[in-house]
Amino acid sequence: MINTKFERIQNNLRKNKKTWLITGVAGFIGSNILEKLLFLDQKVIGIDNLSTGFLKNLKSVEKVVGRKKWKKFKFVKGDISNLNDCLKVIKNVDIVLHQAARGSIPKSTKDPITTNKYNITAFLNILTVSKDNGVKSFVYASSSSVYGDSKLLPKVETKVGNVLSNYALTKKVNEEYARLFYKLYDFKTIGLRYFNVFGKRQNPDGDYAAVIPKWINNVKRNKKLIIFGDGRTSRDFCPISNVVQANILAGFINLKKKNYVFNVGTGSRINLIKLYKTIYKNFKNSNYKKKIIFKNFREGDVRHSLSSIKTIKKLLGYKPVVSFNDGIIQTIKWFKSNSNV
Ligand SMILES: NC(=O)c1ccc[n+]([C@@H]2O[C@H](COP(=O)([O-])OP(=O)(O)OC[C@H]3O[C@@H](n4cnc5c(N)ncnc54)[C@H](O)[C@@H]3O)[C@@H](O)[C@H]2O)c1
Repeated sequence: MINTKFERIQNNLRKNKKTWLITGVAGFIGSNILEKLLFLDQKVIGIDNLSTGFLKNLKSVEKVVGRKKWKKFKFVKGDISNLNDCLKVIKNVDIVLHQAARGSIPKSTKDPITTNKYNITAFLNILTVSKDNGVKSFVYASSSSVYGDSKLLPKVETKVGNVLSNYALTKKVNEEYARLFYKLYDFKTIGLRYFNVFGKRQNPDGDYAAVIPKWINNVKRNKKLIIFGDGRTSRDFCPISNVVQANILAGFINLKKKNYVFNVGTGSRINLIKLYKTIYKNFKNSNYKKKIIFKNFREGDVRHSLSSIKTIKKLLGYKPVVSFNDGIIQTIKWFKSNSNV
C-alpha cells in the first residue's frame, strides 16, 4: 500500500532540505525517525541522555543509511531536563520532533518524580527553547494513555477520560502546555497520541519491555510468556513505519490552526491471545514449547484501546501503510537477524 501524499512530501523534502531536531534519538521511535530523515537527505540533530536509549541503535542506523548520509547527523549526549543541554541543540532548527520521555507506566508508579522530570520538566524546557529560537513546527509524542478510564471505542481526540497512571498524567500535562503555548505565544504544536507502537530496535529486555519485542524474544529464546489478565485485553498495535510517517507529515505540513492533537494508530485492535498466536505462527520456531502464564491484571493498565484515525487522515493525509500482520512479520525478521538483541 502506498500513501501518495506522503510520497509527494518526501519528494518535496528531498529538494527542500530542512534541519530537524529529534529528542530521544537513541530510543526505539527516535532512531527509526532518524533513519527515515537521513534517507531523505535531511540534516538532523539528535539528543539523548541514554536513560532507556542505546548507542547501538544509532550504530544500527549508521549501518543502514551509509557513511555519506550519516554525516548529516549530529548527536549530542545530553539531558533535556537540563535547560543548558536544550540550548546546545536548538540553534537553526526548523522542526522539532520531541520523542524523549520515560515511557513506562509501572516505572511511573514506582518513581513518579523521575517520570515527572523526564516527561514534564524536560518537555517544558524543549518547548520553551523551541519557541524562543524560531522553530517553525513542534511535534511531540503524546500517548493513547491520556484516554484513561474512558470506555468509548474507538477513541476520538476530543473525548478523554480520567488518567489512570502518573505516566498518562505527564502526557496530559504536555498537551495542556502545548495548548497554552499556542494561546499565549501563538506557538505552533502538534501532539501525536501514539497507540501501541512496535517494530525494529524496540527494547525486548527487562521487566518494563513492551509486549511485542518481549514476546518475540521469548519465543526466540524458548522462554515462557506472561499475560496480565485474561488475554482478552486488546490494543491498537501500530507498526513503527506508520508512526514515522505521522511525524514527518506533522512536521512538514503547514496547518492553518496552530494547535492540534492527533491519534496515531491503525484503526483496528487485536487481543493478547491473538497477538500471541500471530507471533507464534510467524516465528516458526519448531522447538518452542508453548507456555503462557496468566497473572493478575496490572494496576493502571487500560482494558481496550482502539484509535479513530479519521482526523489525522483528513488533516495530515496520514495513511497506515503497514498492516499489523506485515508489521509483525517485519519485526520478527529483524529480531531473527539481529542476534545480539
Ligand atoms: N512505544 C510506544 O508504544 C509508545 C506509545 C505511546 C507513546 N510513546 C511515547 O513515544 C516516545 C518515544 O518512546 P519509545 O518507545 O521510543 O521509548 P524509548 O525509551 O525507546 O525512547 C525514549 C528515549 O528518550 C531518551 N530520554 C528520556 N528522557 C530524556 C531526557 N530527559 N533527555 C534526553 N533524552 C531522554 C531515552 O534515553 C530514550 O532513548 C515517548 O515519549 C513515549 O512516551 C511511545
